[in-house]
Amino acid sequence: MQWFTARLAPVRGRGAVSSRLFALALFAAGGALGSFVPAHAQDAVAGKQVFEANCRPCHSARPNRNRVGPTLFGVVGRKAGSISDFYYTDAMRNSSLVWTPEQLLIYVGNPHKVVPGTRMSFPGLRSDADKKNLIAFLETLHS
Ligand code: HEC
Repeated sequence: MQWFTARLAPVRGRGAVSSRLFALALFAAGGALGSFVPAHAQDAVAGKQVFEANCRPCHSARPNRNRVGPTLFGVVGRKAGSISDFYYTDAMRNSSLVWTPEQLLIYVGNPHKVVPGTRMSFPGLRSDADKKNLIAFLETLHS
């Protein structure tokens, strides 16, 4: 029996390599065709990681779930300070901002500069790629 498992193992190993190659080939084909996975979808996948690492400690991505901060579900296009059961600072509620993708891009880089007096204790993201990807992810959070 031992020879049998010993022979099987390398076969399984090769199988794994070839499926990885297959995935790589699909990926390359996708790149070549341009439309296999829209660039924006790839940004959103990367952006989810940025969200998990930086925003998720205080914000939920699900509807009607406020944490330390208000839910970010549906945030793109929303008026600042407008979740009715969240207790905002006056600074945020009276900011008269609308969370367009462009406005969010500036905000996540330096929240305290955009909304002086906000309670959001987050210094800001530095990387432009992270910011861009994060906004692409936030844009997926709607019904
Ligand atoms: C330490 C907790 C904390 C972290 C981390 C944090 N936030 Fe916040 N956020 C808050 C709080 C609290 C508020 C409410 C601020 C106020 O009322 O002044 C807020 C408000 C916001 C708002 C305004 C929402 C609205 O309804 O007007 C946006 C947009 C936002 N945060 C985005 C983010 C993003 C994106 C990240 C990650 C890059 C992030 N926040 C990280 C705590 C946090």
